[in-house]
Amino acid sequence: MLAELFAGLSQRSRYLRFMAGVPAQLPARLLDILDAADGRNHVGLIAVHRGRVVGAARYIRAEDATAQADVAFTVADEFQGQGLGRLMLRELMRRAAASGVDRLRFEMLAENRAAQALARSLGASLRSAGQTTYAELHTHPEPEAVAV
Ligand SMILES: CC(C)(COP(=O)(O)OP(=O)(O)OC[C@H]1O[C@@H](n2cnc3c(N)ncnc32)[C@H](O)[C@@H]1OP(=O)(O)O)[C@@H](O)C(=O)NCCC(=O)NCCS
Repeated sequence: MLAELFAGLSQRSRYLRFMAGVPAQLPARLLDILDAADGRNHVGLIAVHRGRVVGAARYIRAEDATAQADVAFTVADEFQGQGLGRLMLRELMRRAAASGVDRLRFEMLAENRAAQALARSLGASLRSAGQTTYAELHTHPEPEAVAV
């Protein structure tokens, strides 16, 4: 099912997702990794519309620091800009928090305005280095300061 999502993406979206040119038919080794969700250290969500996978998001817990995980997310081209990316990332944050993952990290190309806007809208801190932008998202956001 994930293979179909990635095969149907525009070349541009695939490039933004993998930060490199990858063939429409992803190599089996990469698909195996994407498919290996175990519900605890590797948690994946898919969004389905009329039987077709139109979005996917996942986190993989860092081996050396179990409170951190690396995130990646993709929305099919025709469904982009309608809030699906945010919906999936919010749900992933909720599940991560419930599993003891405090921080979700991801990286994106500096030119990836949509991913950066999405990260910012969820309160992520962003740091740029060359062509790459790094985002860190706290799954337990600080309660807003109360004015006294
Ligand atoms: C990045 C991505 C997942 C965003 O998902 P989406 O469903 O399109 O995003 P949403 O509709 O939830 O919008 C989230 C924010 O991004 C902004 N946004 C969406 N598309 C945008 C674009 N093309 N340019 C600039 N901002 C954009 C929205 O305006 C919104 O920000 P706002 O709250 O400030 O208005 C999607 O564009 C995608 O799959 N891109 C290709 C793969 C990729 O880049 N993955 C991320 C790297 S792992």
